[in-house]
Amino acid sequence: MDESVVLADIYKNEIGQLKHLFPEIIQYLVECGINLRGKENLNLEQVLENLSENLMQDRGLDRSILRDTINYLLEEKENSLKQEEVSSITIVGGTDKTGNLENMEIILKAGSVTGIVGPTGSGKSRLLADVEWLANGDTPTKRVVLVNGFPVNATFRFSMEQKLVAQLSQNMNFVMDATAGEFVRMHAESRFAQNSEQLSEEVIAMANELAGEQFSYNTPLTSLSGGQSRALMIADTALLSRSPIVLIDEIENAGIDRKKALGLLVKKGKIILLATHDPILALLAEKRMIIRNGGIVRVIETSETEKAFLSELEVFDNRMQNLRERLRAGECIDEI
Ligand SMILES: Nc1ncnc2c1ncn2[C@@H]1O[C@H](COP(=O)(O)OP(=O)(O)O)[C@@H](O)[C@H]1O
Ligand SMILES: [Mg+2]
Repeated sequence: MDESVVLADIYKNEIGQLKHLFPEIIQYLVECGINLRGKENLNLEQVLENLSENLMQDRGLDRSILRDTINYLLEEKENSLKQEEVSSITIVGGTDKTGNLENMEIILKAGSVTGIVGPTGSGKSRLLADVEWLANGDTPTKRVVLVNGFPVNATFRFSMEQKLVAQLSQNMNFVMDATAGEFVRMHAESRFAQNSEQLSEEVIAMANELAGEQFSYNTPLTSLSGGQSRALMIADTALLSRSPIVLIDEIENAGIDRKKALGLLVKKGKIILLATHDPILALLAEKRMIIRNGGIVRVIETSETEKAFLSELEVFDNRMQNLRERLRAGECIDEI
């Protein structure tokens, strides 16, 4: 990760939060003989300010030494974060729409697929937005999103160059006057100095594998079908984007090989989070979060039984796809 990654202003964190965000600091304070019991709701600043002079004298403590050590621990942590890739994000529960605590924590690891399911209006897109902006208790849900187990500071969160997240969204209507190949090549050139030609060929080939209907390097963007443009965006994200987190919000999946597409992103070690009503996608995920009234109410691991249904679902799905194609081609349907 980049050097602009710094931990959120640590002195404003409450002791209760620090216990799981930064156990090293808690351990240090305890080793200094500072009693933290019953102080869960005080922030670190308050704890340091309220230390009794007696205790400080007894223990030979000094506020500036305590601060220096805490800052040192902080710096160590930042340095280790800089060298690490994003290996996980953690969603620490906040509140649902009524203000009830979610009381949960879920870790999403690199190379994993997690689904988000729930009725329309229940808060699926909100949860994706919390991850996109690395929420820090400052969104309507009060959730906190940690990277590799740690909070990330505001400068990093809002700097676009450091984008951690790639979004695959419904609005992939290309308005550019370019061919598919030129479009991908521009991306490749902006990210990699060499090999942009070969890389863009690879993206197009991959997109063709994901989309049923073939297109070429020279196909104008504006004449790609919905399935082809989604396939192009997925291949582009997998092969060219450095963003370690991929968010997918209820994209319509007609015309792409979902299993292959997710498999490709997983192989690149991305953390994939997808809001979906599509049973195939929901069951392809290793686990799914159930959202109700704005809150994560449950996390279900996909069972073996559920996985076994997948191949059956794919058969249904192919038949639907086939029917769609035939109707689109102007056929009359007398058998399905
Ligand atoms: N935990 C929450 N607290 C407050 N508002 C929430 C919460 N979760 C969702 N909302 C709000 O509810 C509305 C619907 O949520 P949204 O994420 O768009 O639902 P979905 O994507 O499931 O259809 C949005 O305005 C969103 O900001
Ligand atoms: Mg939504």
